[in-house]
Amino acid sequence: MKILGIETSCDETGAAIVEDGVDIISNVVASSADMHAKTGGVIPEQAARQQIKSIIPVVKEALKNMKEKDIDAIAVTVGPGLIGSLLVGVETAKTLAYLWDKPIIPINHLVGHIFANWLNVSKPPHFPALALIVSGGHTDLVLITNPRSEIKITVIGGTRDDAAGEAFDKTARLLGLPYPGGPAISRLAQEFKRKYGKTKLNLFPRPMINEDNFDFSFSGLKTAVLNEIKNKKITPDYQELIAAEIEAAIVEVLVEKTARAIQKYQPNSFLLGGGVAANSALREKFEEKIYLITKDVLQAKTEKPSAFGSGILRRTRFHVPEVTLCTDNAAPIAAAAQKMYIPKFWKNISALPELTITSKLEV
Ligand code: KG4
Ligand code: ZN
Repeated sequence: MKILGIETSCDETGAAIVEDGVDIISNVVASSADMHAKTGGVIPEQAARQQIKSIIPVVKEALKNMKEKDIDAIAVTVGPGLIGSLLVGVETAKTLAYLWDKPIIPINHLVGHIFANWLNVSKPPHFPALALIVSGGHTDLVLITNPRSEIKITVIGGTRDDAAGEAFDKTARLLGLPYPGGPAISRLAQEFKRKYGKTKLNLFPRPMINEDNFDFSFSGLKTAVLNEIKNKKITPDYQELIAAEIEAAIVEVLVEKTARAIQKYQPNSFLLGGGVAANSALREKFEEKIYLITKDVLQAKTEKPSAFGSGILRRTRFHVPEVTLCTDNAAPIAAAAQKMYIPKFWKNISALPELTITSKLEV
């Protein structure tokens, strides 16, 4: 089955065609991030206006070598996101579904980030799975099971204030770096590591790291960074050090708390997703940590019961999408539609900006 995916939840306009939820036939993204770099963050009205300009050329480009008869269904992000941006994708998808007489599948953007892990892979993830979605607006730790082949998502933890991506973006701004802050901090942190190796100062707090829950809190990082840099001259060297410290603090909390959930639930797969999953330090640390956990599981003499069922000793496999599939694009939306194929009549679809990862998509 070939699905045309459409994604316009924030400042990226995406259209992609994905076959059977795995093979990407085309994937086109236009971003207005450069425009928002000048203002230090996304201005919703400007993002929506750019979506209107980009949507038709982007969909056309994605369909370049295809005819409408080759497309089996249309998948579209209905939320969460900016209402003005979402509406552009939703109305475009509805119009195409009406004109071409195709089913339309509403998709939750956050669920899309999870299914990016099925794209372009020969060994797909297995359920039960644990997933950490880290994006500009969300930090969600969820369990995914598929009883009777239905996908069931349960939240076990999440941020109590700022999202992980938001923490990168806001602290980057304090350092005078452009939006989006994550890639900018990551580049400087890599430069620091190349020159001096790993940073060991631990200048910033690791909130909630030892608490017995799976929640996160990142809002204190802004104040800590502000206190550290006030009255200091921000030289390029100092900027690199602070970037490395910010990255180390965010990565350590995400990895350590998630590792405890992996040990508790022993899922078959651990899936990382969302824009922050593009971060190379986060990818490397999860790789290392999961290797250590699975080594321990295999060497354990006695079977430890997992929260999914006693006596099952599972070796968790780590999955993370290719870097370009972590940040917003439409291929994961089409992949999610294949796995959660609940087609609707075009009239029954609308933008739902306030969705959470477990929301029902009924209107
Ligand atoms: O998923 P995404 O593209 O959009 C949302 O759904 O929000 O995520 C965007 C977030 C931004 O906060 C951005 O700074 C962050 O992902 N990000 C990164 C990296 N690339 C993007 N954060 C850290 N390191 C990166 N390499
Ligand atoms: Zn996203």
